[in-house]
Amino acid sequence: MKRILIKDIANKIGESVKLAGWVDVRRDHGKLIFIDLRDSTGKVQTVITPGNKETHEIANGLRPEWVIEMEGEVKKRPENMINPELPLGGIEISANKISVLNKSKTPVFEIGTNGYEINEEIRLKYRYLDLRRERMQKNLMVRHNIVKYFRDYLSERDFIEIETPLLTKSTPEGARDFVVPSRLHQGKFYALPQSPQQYKQLLMIAGVEKYFQVAKAIRDEDTRGDRQPEHTQLDLEMSFADQETIINLIEDLITSLVKTLFPRKKITRLPWPRLTYKEAMEKYKNDKPDLRNDKKNIDELAFGWVIDFPLFEYDEKEKRIAPMHHMFTSPKDEDIGLLGKNPLKITGKLYDMVCNGHELGSGSIRINDPELQKKVFEIIGISEQETLDKFGHLLEAYEYGAPPHGGIALGIDRLVAILQGEPNIREVIAFPKTGDGRDLMMNAPSEIAKEQLDELGIEIKKGKKKP
Ligand code: AMO
Repeated sequence: MKRILIKDIANKIGESVKLAGWVDVRRDHGKLIFIDLRDSTGKVQTVITPGNKETHEIANGLRPEWVIEMEGEVKKRPENMINPELPLGGIEISANKISVLNKSKTPVFEIGTNGYEINEEIRLKYRYLDLRRERMQKNLMVRHNIVKYFRDYLSERDFIEIETPLLTKSTPEGARDFVVPSRLHQGKFYALPQSPQQYKQLLMIAGVEKYFQVAKAIRDEDTRGDRQPEHTQLDLEMSFADQETIINLIEDLITSLVKTLFPRKKITRLPWPRLTYKEAMEKYKNDKPDLRNDKKNIDELAFGWVIDFPLFEYDEKEKRIAPMHHMFTSPKDEDIGLLGKNPLKITGKLYDMVCNGHELGSGSIRINDPELQKKVFEIIGISEQETLDKFGHLLEAYEYGAPPHGGIALGIDRLVAILQGEPNIREVIAFPKTGDGRDLMMNAPSEIAKEQLDELGIEIKKGKKKP
């Protein structure tokens, strides 16, 4: 007999089926034994009667989280045994054959709860067990559905998904780089991308007019509830598009996604309100204001746009002018004249998508003129030599017919967390890192063997340096 999934048994009353999965709970009711069997699609109660001696004996020995396979008949439960709370609460399997595929140690924590009550370090160390809980399985599934929605929606509108490299050169997004030493080119390093920013702009020059990617962005920055050293973006870029085109595209994408996948949720205002940076700061003292009517309602989604950001800000710590978003953002046409005179007064073609007090996305129309780009590098204090070393390829590419272009990146982890009403993004990432950037399950980062270091030509300095 071919194994079927638990979700598919509802319309098989009276038929024999073969199921496989984990023992969720075992209950002894005198002679009857009940096993709740769980697979990735649901749970079903199974009953083993003493009449079938061999199976009854096996069932008697089963413990939570053992992996089993069983055959039995799908039956309607007696009227007084129906559990209306469960999707399959009206049926049960009368099992006549059980085999144990694998045993399990007693799990280190409860799997049947929502897990919030368990110490997070233990949850992360045993993530493969933690992910078995219903809430986490749901989060993984919803995340998959959201990403699939993105891919379908954009593909239908002529966007193509293109992968960009992970081993690359620094693409600054305001954080430190994670670097990877090269064995073949000793003393040289790749940088892991803080975002696909330069590649996606180069793709526009390459004649791809509509690009997207579900992309990993990797940044060596201090971790918080809504920040991870690696996060996933819905990254996109379009040629011949202005700010309005991109804002409208994203607004329609997210609104239709919520209506389709989260029909219970209420979007506070349609079309989404737009605030200038100045208005947001004056009214809310915040550039990611929470625009909900009822801030306690997790089913309310107050999406909005913050626009007209200054192109630059003064970085007090570093005592220099820094880009507000990133250095590839175009100034507003009417402000270009201020570049040489008063750069801090320039407004950028820059837009942030916010929701319920979080920044969910950020994008801009880019510079496509090498002279203008050089000027921006100069203002933020990048020397001519450094400009050539770091961005020479981009400046050169701009000399070969660069179309006007712009784009945006949405933080997928943050979006899924908000939509699922989760308190932090670790709950919607399969294998997240701790607050101080460790993977407790894999024990990373970790030391590497002396031979590996020798091969890379690297020597570790004695004494740890404080970050
Ligand atoms: P930005 O740096 O604003 O823009 O990132 C885009 C969105 O990604 C999310 N995000 C994060 N999520 C989790 N952990 C982090 N450490 C983290 N950092 C950012 C946020 C943010 O709004 N290349 C540009 C986009 C562009 O200009 O097209 C970029 O990466 O939700």
